[in-house]
Amino acid sequence: MEKTKALFDQLWADYIKRNPEAKRVHDLFVKEGEEVINDHIAFRTFNHPSINVDVLAQHFINAGYEFKGEYQFEEKHLFAKHFEHKTMKDAPRVFISQLKTEDFSDFLQEKVAEIVSKIPAELPSKAEVLTSGNVWGEKPSYAVYNKLREESEYAAWLYLYGFTLNHFTVSVTHLQTLNSMEKTNQFLKDNGFLMNDSGGEIKGTPEELLEQSSIKANMHKVEFQEGVYQVPVTYYEFAKRYPDVDGNLYSGFIAKSADKIFESTDYYQK
Ligand code: NI
Repeated sequence: MEKTKALFDQLWADYIKRNPEAKRVHDLFVKEGEEVINDHIAFRTFNHPSINVDVLAQHFINAGYEFKGEYQFEEKHLFAKHFEHKTMKDAPRVFISQLKTEDFSDFLQEKVAEIVSKIPAELPSKAEVLTSGNVWGEKPSYAVYNKLREESEYAAWLYLYGFTLNHFTVSVTHLQTLNSMEKTNQFLKDNGFLMNDSGGEIKGTPEELLEQSSIKANMHKVEFQEGVYQVPVTYYEFAKRYPDVDGNLYSGFIAKSADKIFESTDYYQK
């Protein structure tokens, strides 16, 4: 339990260092008198055997998590698994996705092979990998970033940031006052945040037992080989779960909703 808490403290510290706006979101909820419980956290990776979902998941399995479900995202060429803690009830679910690199151009595949080959050999087996960031050992190229974006915003994001938490997710299910997606979204907009409205502001329905929304990733200055550019970094997500016919809170994910949530880190002009 201590191990899980220490791991999450470290992940949170890494997340807010990269995206201070995420801390502002968290603090706004606390100021409203809400206790922020996280529904899930998410990581991204490539399907290369040295660093795929199973390699990253091992660190959570070591901390008491177990496999719960898997998901295909045809359009974005992603595969994901979700894990839950065996005993800690309020521990966030862990959602890890991987890019099916073989579905893309030679350019993308070669770039991924090149950066994956630069990952220090022993790193993936250490929990530090989860906060290790861009471990390719060189400044990213803005031209490469943009070329990757043409095929996969997901690949472009990974190329920039490497291994770092993609998002935390406030459990709207646990909120006392802002206890509906509509109220939470309005609260965020009133505080100046931009919602990801791809597929509508709220993805999913009470009938599907899961509703999700997210704010667009915060813009962050990144030093590229060609100079400094503003690009999206990480974002905050919001999720409300409903009980199934047996009265148990639905605990999985809905591929067609998550598909749109992935777009929260797509490049945009402010
Ligand atoms: Ni999510």
